[in-house]
Amino acid sequence: MIDSILKRKSIRTFDKQLLSEKDRNLVKEITARMKNDVGPFGNSVKWFVFDVEQYEKEKAVKLGTYGTVKNGQFFFGGIIKNTFEAMMDYGYLFEKIILELTHHNLGTLWIGGMFNRNALDEMILPGEIVPAISPVGYTSEYRSLRDRLTRTAIKGNQRKAFSTLFFDNDLDHPLDESKNLLPLAKYLKLVQVAPSASNKQPWRVVLNDNQADFYLERTPNYAKSLGFDIQAIDMGIALCHFCIGLDEDYVSYEITNNKATYIADSFQFIAGVLTK
Ligand SMILES: Cc1cc2nc3c(=O)[nH]c(=O)nc-3n(C[C@H](O)[C@H](O)[C@H](O)COP(=O)(O)O)c2cc1C
Repeated sequence: MIDSILKRKSIRTFDKQLLSEKDRNLVKEITARMKNDVGPFGNSVKWFVFDVEQYEKEKAVKLGTYGTVKNGQFFFGGIIKNTFEAMMDYGYLFEKIILELTHHNLGTLWIGGMFNRNALDEMILPGEIVPAISPVGYTSEYRSLRDRLTRTAIKGNQRKAFSTLFFDNDLDHPLDESKNLLPLAKYLKLVQVAPSASNKQPWRVVLNDNQADFYLERTPNYAKSLGFDIQAIDMGIALCHFCIGLDEDYVSYEITNNKATYIADSFQFIAGVLTK
């Protein structure tokens, strides 16, 4: 899965070739397998897959992803409670699916903002939401102009510096990537390459010898009208990447203290990953 973390990127232009029966079944099989999985904050997701053309015809609605995705035909998504912690679990679990599909060389895109969420209203109960969906398809050699413009505008290939994102023992001491690093620092690279909404990268991590504390540094006034906390999803993705690194090295750990607190106006404590 580390390979998938390193090679994944957002795909916004897909090949016209339809997703094969085998690959459709793969998406169905993965989402079915994850039916009972819970995220670190105890929430599970009701996953679904759909063929966009068929869905739109049957329900007489438009999913409205055409501006964002070219040739997106087959999608998956999930339904979950609309709470801060559930959004983190959504990020954590959805990203696992994205990475497994990446492993099978299938292209994906987190879409949390740019789709007509009302088109999926029929599936949800009060208090629930579909925070994000993703197309699944074959990556096209050619990339649409809109795709290229989007990627340039949000600087999709770039990431903030290690010293901006990560800290040594407390938030006053940025972590210097070139210095003797703490044992857990290698897993921070997996966080640094994570996808995030509008590439805002709101994750901050304070490391000490055996614990990594995750904080959210919220982007001021960002995505306030969405109706759910999209940056909480980003935090779940960051935790997912970090924990995959630990899992692959057989490091055992516990995710501690689920009670979110603020230590400064802009830094919200999310969770500590305590290794044993
Ligand atoms: C929660 C979330 C929501 C996103 N929503 C959208 C979206 O609505 N439209 C879009 O084009 N990209 C969306 N993205 C993709 C990000 O823009 C992308 O991950 C980021 O620019 C980094 O690029 P990369 O994924 O290629 O590494 C979203 C990503 C995340 C994590």
